[in-house]
Amino acid sequence: MFRYILKRSSPFRGAGLILVTFGIVLIVKGLYYSNTHMRSYDVVQKNVSNLLLGDINIRAQTNYTSSTTIRQERHDPILPVCEIDHKALKGREQITLTSQSLISLESMFPESHVGGRFQPKGCKPKSRIAIIIPFRDREIHLKIYLSNVIPKLRRQNADFTIYVVEQAPGSHFNRGMMRNVGFVEASKIADYDCFIFNDVDSIFEDDRNIFRCGRDNSVRHLVTGVDVFDYKLKYSILVGGIIAFTPAQFRKVNGYSNFYFDWGAEDDDIYYRTERENMVIERPEKNSTIGFMSTLKHTRDPEAQYRFNILHSRTNETSHNDGVNSLKYTVKMVSHKKLFTWIYVSVDEDEVLKGLDIRIRRKIAAYRAKTKKT
Ligand code: UDP
Ligand code: BGC
Repeated sequence: MFRYILKRSSPFRGAGLILVTFGIVLIVKGLYYSNTHMRSYDVVQKNVSNLLLGDINIRAQTNYTSSTTIRQERHDPILPVCEIDHKALKGREQITLTSQSLISLESMFPESHVGGRFQPKGCKPKSRIAIIIPFRDREIHLKIYLSNVIPKLRRQNADFTIYVVEQAPGSHFNRGMMRNVGFVEASKIADYDCFIFNDVDSIFEDDRNIFRCGRDNSVRHLVTGVDVFDYKLKYSILVGGIIAFTPAQFRKVNGYSNFYFDWGAEDDDIYYRTERENMVIERPEKNSTIGFMSTLKHTRDPEAQYRFNILHSRTNETSHNDGVNSLKYTVKMVSHKKLFTWIYVSVDEDEVLKGLDIRIRRKIAAYRAKTKKT
């Protein structure tokens, strides 16, 4: 065959060579992809709830199972490393407060991959980011978050996937625990090298505030000023709103404490964890608007005063036994939506709190009796 082609006149010979080369490239690429470039994950949906999230109404069903296959594509190794085009950044912008339906948001971002992954085109990202949002009953905030944050991160040329970790009814909301769950579950789906924990009501205003993790012992808090605190931080060790940890950093502090149900202090607690592990908090440049953050209005949950009893009882030892390594939850459902991966979990609050000193548990019981809020 080769000899036959080579014997023909030169234009015919050229075309034949191109065809043969093309065939070889296809075979090699096919083998390469089937071995390394496509990994499949089957996610089984369990105990589907009757939760209404955004525009998607999932009806209660029992013994419902279905599989979603996620294809993880790696980047072609010959691509150049993605750089940020600083000229494409817009700087500080006012937050848009219009809440659009999920369907219209999805059509705004047709480039997203299933599960809410956004990838830069034509280059190899320096980092693969998971954004973890603790969530319950904040659908409007979520839509506002998506419509504001996705365009900014696209301009940063980031490779990111948004995870919404929703706590099912039956226990008081636990922000730290939902973040821990996000860390563990997202790590099962892909190899992220940066986790950014972002409250759904906390929107960064300035796209020069690059979503990335710090190096070594530097944990990045991406906020220098909050609108409701006059664009300052309420106190210097505040690390709420948006914070970035590499997996190694997060494991070193053992993630968030699982003990803070109700409002407040899980962020203070993780600050002390970083301090005890000799880590430092770095923030965007001061004296600029880069680290400014807007918050979305909502009815404020009552401050749980007992949180200080937990906070002040924490030591290196308690933190080493309370966090990612002691996390207990039930995944009720995982759904790979167009703009985010939704993880729906339930928590046995009484079981978790058994890990606390009896005196603190009594304080919590007294608080519950007073507020009678579930
Ligand atoms: N959150 C939620 N539902 C709740 C309480 C909290 O989704 O009922 C999540 C949400 O991501 C929110 C974050 O936890 O942005 C922080 O809680 P909250 O907004 O109540 O705190 P604040 O902003 O008032 O300090
Ligand atoms: C709470 C924190 C909260 C901060 C700012 C503190 O009293 O414990 O969780 O982030 O106030 O609102």
